[in-house]
Amino acid sequence: MSATLMASRDQLYSPVAHIMRREQWEASYAADIEAILRLKQEKNAVILAHNYQTPEIFHCVADIRGDSLALARAAQSVDAATMVMAGVHFMAETAKLLNPEKTVLIPDATAGCSLAEGITADNVRELKKRYPGVPVVTYVNSTADVKAESDICCTSGNARRVVESLNVPRVIMIPDEFLARNIEAETGIEMLTWPAHCEVHERFTPLEIRQYRRIHPDLTVIAHPECPPEVLDAADHSGSTAQMIDFIDQKKPQKVLLVTECSMSDNLAAQYPQTQFVRPCNLCPHMKRITLSNIRQALETMQTEVTIPAHLQQPARLAVERMLAI
Ligand code: 13P
Ligand code: SF4
Repeated sequence: MSATLMASRDQLYSPVAHIMRREQWEASYAADIEAILRLKQEKNAVILAHNYQTPEIFHCVADIRGDSLALARAAQSVDAATMVMAGVHFMAETAKLLNPEKTVLIPDATAGCSLAEGITADNVRELKKRYPGVPVVTYVNSTADVKAESDICCTSGNARRVVESLNVPRVIMIPDEFLARNIEAETGIEMLTWPAHCEVHERFTPLEIRQYRRIHPDLTVIAHPECPPEVLDAADHSGSTAQMIDFIDQKKPQKVLLVTECSMSDNLAAQYPQTQFVRPCNLCPHMKRITLSNIRQALETMQTEVTIPAHLQQPARLAVERMLAI
């Protein structure tokens, strides 16, 4: 290998040097990473990666990284002609809603979400009939046809602000029952909910948190608001994935348990070597469908392109834009 190539490989490897052996990185990832970087230039493309993507995607090829809110905001101001969503389908759909003229690719179109699959547009229409005049706040973890039936969207990072901005005593908050209950506890605003859950976060229990605290008495516990309310009660703090990062960046805790998807801690361990991450390993099978190899393939073949039926575009976009305006 030439000295220049070696130097650029050093640079590419450096963001994950704390968490991955060089030989493993070279053998498993280097070739795909180099091919993806070349393809991004050739195709005028950027990669958006959610915080739950694995470190070799998150740190080595992504241009924009963040929680659902940050990805939606960033999607509004991307210059490139093509966006590749290293995340799940609803995230790619949101990016497309905000950029109808751009090409949005998802490396695996079956990367779904138990929340988005937990409610249909018919269900929302029934709720609106049952509770006339009550505003519908829909978590972005939903399909475009569900968003199109909604007044406004929210993410876990802005749910409280969105709900409070409506100035009403009760809202229909769908599809995540636990997020709705957690926001109800914070705001005192009554939530009419729907029984859908995140299959990753619903599995955490207060008992598990107590057991971790027994082993690590100096532990700071931060739980995602998609967890059941009793899990948030057992934690020290709660917040979206971006709020978890801000907490670690600002407070620099010595030992932390992030009650959320597993790759989140891997990504932060690469960035914050002074913090020890205690890891419960709940993986999201949908997020894990995205790999370096299918990102490379998506750029090579320009597949799979995300499209949204014409009649849904305007109403679904309005619900997302109302959220982004807050
Ligand atoms: P945030 O990154 O917005 O906190 O969402 C978590 C999640 O589960 C996304 O699918
Ligand atoms: Fe959906 Fe939960 Fe996976 Fe996020 S972590 S994509 S909410 S199933």
